[in-house]
Amino acid sequence: MTVWDIYSEILENRYISGRLYKLVLRVPDDIIRKIEPGHFAMIKPSESYDPLGRRAFAVADVEENKLIFYYEVFGRGTNLLTKRKVGEKLKVLLPLGRKLFSYEGKKHLLLGGGIGLAGLTLLAKKLRNMGKEVFIAYGARNKEYLGMVEWLEKETFPYELFTDDGSVGRKGYVTDILEEFGTDWVVHACGPKPMLKTIKRMKTGHKVYFSLEERMACGWGVCLGCVVKTAGGEFKRVCMEGPVMPMEEVVI
Ligand SMILES: Cc1cc2nc3c(=O)[nH]c(=O)nc-3n(C[C@H](O)[C@H](O)[C@H](O)COP(=O)(O)OP(=O)(O)OC[C@H]3O[C@@H](n4cnc5c(N)ncnc54)[C@H](O)[C@@H]3O)c2cc1C
Ligand code: FES
Repeated sequence: MTVWDIYSEILENRYISGRLYKLVLRVPDDIIRKIEPGHFAMIKPSESYDPLGRRAFAVADVEENKLIFYYEVFGRGTNLLTKRKVGEKLKVLLPLGRKLFSYEGKKHLLLGGGIGLAGLTLLAKKLRNMGKEVFIAYGARNKEYLGMVEWLEKETFPYELFTDDGSVGRKGYVTDILEEFGTDWVVHACGPKPMLKTIKRMKTGHKVYFSLEERMACGWGVCLGCVVKTAGGEFKRVCMEGPVMPMEEVVI
C-alpha cells in the first residue's frame, strides 16, 4: 500500500479541555480516499531536530479534504505540537497501520479509554454507514478529560460516559459496561494498558479487538520499538502487524 510523506497545512489546532487538543490538517483527496478506520499518521511536531522523531496519532475523522486528530499533551512532542499555528505546515507520514478493524457482526461496542477514543471514532462512522448497531462507552479520570464528547454529540452516537471521580456520567471505569452487553456484541477497545488488561482479565466471552498504541519511533516496521508479545510466543510489530489485534493474540 502506498504511504505518503507530505507537508500538510494546519487548518485548526484548538485546545478543548484537560490536556486535549483538536488538530485539523488539509490533505489531498487521493490520500483521503485511502484512509480506513485504524489508520494512523506519524506527525513531526516541530521543524527542528528537537524532537528528532515523529509522533503517532490515530486518524479520528475525515471530512472532505481534512483529516481530524485529537491529541493529549504528554511530553515534549505533543507540547511542541500545541504551539503550531493555523497556516503552518506539518510533516506527516500516512496512512500507517496494516492490520485494521474487523467489521464482522451486527452489533459493536466501542470502549474508549481517554484519548483512546480517537482510535475508534472513524470505526464508529464506518460501522454505522454499514447499517450496524454501535454503542460507545467513553471513560476518563474526570469531566475535563472527556473533551471528545463534542464529537459524540455532533455525530449523534448513543454513548455513555464514565469518570473515575463521578464528575460526569457514571462513577467507575469504562470497562464496567462490558458485562451489561451480550456476547453477540463485538467489542473494540482502545486505551491505556491497565484498561486493556482489565478487559482481558474479565473473560466475558465477547469477541474483543484491541487497537494498540505502543510507543513508536518509525511507524513503518524498521525500529522494532513497538513490538508486543503474542500468545504464541512470537513478537509482532504494532505498526505493521497491527495496530488492531484480536485480544486473545496479545500478551498484555
Ligand atoms: C498507533 C498509535 C495511535 C495513537 N493515537 C493517538 C491519538 O490519536 N492521540 C494522542 O494523543 N495520542 C495518540 N497516541 C500516543 C502518542 O503517540 C503519544 O502520546 C505521543 O507520542 C507522546 O509524545 P510526546 O513527545 O508528547 O511524549 P514523550 O516525551 O515521548 O513521552 C511522554 C511520556 O508519555 C509516555 N508515552 C509516550 N508515548 C506513549 C505511548 N504510546 N504509550 C504509553 N506511554 C507513552 C512516555 O513514556 C513518557 O512518560 C498514539 C500512539 C500510537 C502508537
Ligand atoms: S514503530 Fe518502528 S517498527 Fe513499529
